[in-house]
Amino acid sequence: MPGTLILVFHRDLAASRANSALAEAARTLQDVEVIDMQARYPEARIELFGEAARDAQMLLKAERIVLQFPIQWYSTPSLLKEWQDAVLTRMYYIEREAEGDRLVGTPIMVAATAGNFPAAYTRGGQNHFTVDEILTPLRATAHRCGLPWHKPYLVFEADRLSDQALSTAAKEYCRALSDFITVTSTQSRNSETI
Ligand SMILES: Cc1cc2nc3c(=O)[nH]c(=O)nc-3n(C[C@H](O)[C@H](O)[C@H](O)COP(=O)(O)O)c2cc1C
Repeated sequence: MPGTLILVFHRDLAASRANSALAEAARTLQDVEVIDMQARYPEARIELFGEAARDAQMLLKAERIVLQFPIQWYSTPSLLKEWQDAVLTRMYYIEREAEGDRLVGTPIMVAATAGNFPAAYTRGGQNHFTVDEILTPLRATAHRCGLPWHKPYLVFEADRLSDQALSTAAKEYCRALSDFITVTSTQSRNSETI
């Protein structure tokens, strides 16, 4: 199992432009594994006592975790919520000592794409709330699970990016991942870097 585990939650990665480009770029990095979670769970159902055990073991082997997804309705794709409800519930409420306690200290980072532009995500803007505010439930979950939160990597106007802008975004993603890897390799795993 590689050091950095990137779980991509996208309803149809084959039809995606932004997330697939980010995922492809990330795959070129050393010691990074990218998993298409929709392909892993085509029915979008995860059994608490079944597949969740497999994901728990996968998380426990990783040195750091990245959750990558498109923002949908000011939230995450529903499979990510299903995954939390199954995998994190199992790890922290059913197998706390064997699994949850052992995951504590594993750094986590979010990489999210948004259709709207940055100014929309301001108090006076169209969406009224910032992306950081929209990510609060995930950050609270990370806090609850003892997973140090790192600065999210965000791509705005994801549906409108030119090929060149998308290629730049993919390169910046690789840089953000490399920074995440460096900082979590050299610092105490328990410290946030935001
Ligand atoms: C059901 C649905 C809901 C969406 N909700 C939002 C939203 O709340 N805010 C936003 O900025 N973009 C929203 N979008 C746009 C997506 O974030 C955008 O299409 C995606 O990031 C592009 O990435 P992709 O090329 O990997 O699909 C939504 C898209 C869909 C399909």
